[in-house]
Amino acid sequence: MANIRDMHDTQERMNAAGVEYVRGMPAVKVFGLTVSTFLQFHNSITGYRDWAVQYVRFCKRPYMVFITILASLIVFILPVGVFILSQKPDNQAFALTLMLFLVVAPGFVTPMMKLMNLGGNMRIIAEGVERIDEIFAQEPVAEPINPQKAEGYNIEFDHVVFSYDDPAVSTRTEALAGVSFTAREGELTALVGPSGGGKSTIAYLIPRFWDVGTGAIRIGGVDIREMGSEQLMDMVSFVFQDVHLFYDTIEENIRMGRSDAGYEEVVAAAKAASCHEFIECLPQGYQTRIGEGGTYLSGGEAQRVAIARAILKNSPILVLDEATAFADPENESKIQAGLSELIKGKTVIIIAHRLSSIREADQILVVDEGRIVERGRHNELIDRDGLYRRMWRAHIDADSWTIAAEQASKAVNE
Ligand SMILES: Nc1ncnc2c1ncn2[C@@H]1O[C@H](COP(=O)(O)OP(=O)(O)OP(=O)(O)O)[C@@H](O)[C@H]1O
Ligand SMILES: [Mg+2]
Repeated sequence: MANIRDMHDTQERMNAAGVEYVRGMPAVKVFGLTVSTFLQFHNSITGYRDWAVQYVRFCKRPYMVFITILASLIVFILPVGVFILSQKPDNQAFALTLMLFLVVAPGFVTPMMKLMNLGGNMRIIAEGVERIDEIFAQEPVAEPINPQKAEGYNIEFDHVVFSYDDPAVSTRTEALAGVSFTAREGELTALVGPSGGGKSTIAYLIPRFWDVGTGAIRIGGVDIREMGSEQLMDMVSFVFQDVHLFYDTIEENIRMGRSDAGYEEVVAAAKAASCHEFIECLPQGYQTRIGEGGTYLSGGEAQRVAIARAILKNSPILVLDEATAFADPENESKIQAGLSELIKGKTVIIIAHRLSSIREADQILVVDEGRIVERGRHNELIDRDGLYRRMWRAHIDADSWTIAAEQASKAVNE
């Protein structure tokens, strides 16, 4: 039977596939995926159509009977009334009653239709409410009964094991398999390693996007599960790998770091994050709306705006997930300049993709397959014959390759 749950399900799939399709348009074009990706979108639309057709078929008969009875009121009343009246032509009372029904009957149709639609709408609403309830039924992050205050801002990972649960396929992906380290206050701790190693996962666990499986994360000696979530959020600033800017002015996007900051403070933060210059060049400066009139920022610019946001928040702990895509040296040096301002006297964890940016780090942790496989300062790790050295070599080779390419192109031009 076609039910309302199916309608919502198919609509949901159709919307998701639509968004996915539009978002993936560049990839679709570049890789010539038109047929296969469109197929998914197409299937979701036909899925909805099938549901609708099935639903209409299911409702057709009862609806027809209902409408026929409703619409035929007059057709039924008039001949029967006239027939009865013809038997007793002098019955005035009956004639008046008949008149009344003839006048009132058409007026019944609309409310009756509404009543019937109400039944359908109630089912749609009930289904919607059920879906909202499902969201409300999600367990919120457990708040401690006696929140404790952190003494200092050292971050300590103590044998942290963590898996992303996937209830849909009932498998568990172990993302961290026993991670222990301490990121000290006033120091820069860098996480490096191959893609998928678990670096971002380590970062996400600090503001409790998820809770650890076993082990513990402590800030200033206090387990983060024993802290009030507001206190924790006040302590940590986050610059994500994929920066999200809101559909709002640049000024407001930066002010999100601290809502009571004045305009001057916003500008000062932007200057510190090396994004003041490009903002000034935008059509309406700080009042430019992102996403409007074709104003989009490049990935590097967006990340600098996010850094400005973090500078404004000025929290004692900073977690920065460096974006992979922004490898151009000029942008990197600008981000670096913004960062050096930001990290003074704080506990900083940087997930770095360009090793040159973390040579001066106080501690480098090499993360691979959910474990810390090496740790130390840059020079110590270079001396060891391990993963870091191999990564560094690859990095150097990539750089010298760029220089070689530049020289070659110069030679060609000369
Ligand atoms: N939301 C998620 N749900 C399920 N699995 C996830 C999720 N996020 C990450 N993973 C898995 O956890 C592992 C670690 O991922 P993580 O994002 O921490 O890697 P990473 O070191 O940050 O990689 P990159 O350098 O590419 O950013 C990977 O195997 C990944 O597939
Ligand atoms: Mg990552």
